[in-house]
Amino acid sequence: MPWDFPFWIAHRGAGKLAPENTLAAFRLGANHGYRAFECDVKLSADGVIFLLHDATLTRTTSAHKQWAQPSDTIAGNHPWHALSQLDAGTWHSRAYAGEPMPTLDAIAHYCQANGARLNIEIKPTPGQDAATGAAVANACARLWAGRSDLPLLSSFQIGALESAQSAQANMPRALLMDVFQSEWLAHANRLGCRAVVFNYALWDVQRVEAAHAAGMKAMSYTVNDEWAVAHLKALGTDGIITDRVDAFTPQVT
Ligand code: G3P
Ligand code: MG
Repeated sequence: MPWDFPFWIAHRGAGKLAPENTLAAFRLGANHGYRAFECDVKLSADGVIFLLHDATLTRTTSAHKQWAQPSDTIAGNHPWHALSQLDAGTWHSRAYAGEPMPTLDAIAHYCQANGARLNIEIKPTPGQDAATGAAVANACARLWAGRSDLPLLSSFQIGALESAQSAQANMPRALLMDVFQSEWLAHANRLGCRAVVFNYALWDVQRVEAAHAAGMKAMSYTVNDEWAVAHLKALGTDGIITDRVDAFTPQVT
């Protein structure tokens, strides 16, 4: 399939302007003109795929206040009926009090209804790489059945990408890399990746050429400065994930 993913991608929905990985963040990012979004997903204890960055609930939910005995803060140890009740907005600001964590299904429906694309970062609870990768790929095959605007599945976890590839070979994949690993291209090739998404500081001319020569797009996270945007454009890279939805306007790129 041709590559038609937008260049500008809003990190976690709307960066830091709204509670990350919530529908409210997606709506705010969309109000700033964004038509592509990155989000982090993991599995509940009963197999529901939902949006959350951290392995624990501590930073971005009110579990410590809402649950009488929040003895286990690992999100993936709890069933969805419990996770779905949590306030994932108050930590950010009063205006977002009560905002829930969304399911991947809800975000897929939002994106499809609004003509937006989705970069789903598979962020497994530690020890659940294979199960999460397969579940996300299978869910995406169901949610985007018969559609051409497929999501891009990315992960730092090679095991998650391997299981996504085994489950749904046709679902686009991208390898994430935060610290340089010399085997990046071999891994990305073996995983059948359409793109590699680097910490933006890792890109140079040779690596961009190597990715392109292998038929992969060269993308970056998390790019919040004008000088870095100019540098990455000069290198000929193909996509930027940013927090600064208020600073960069997709239509003018
Ligand atoms: O997907 C790119 C970026 O989101 C990876 O880092 O920690 O913000 O999920 P992180
Ligand atoms: Mg992420």
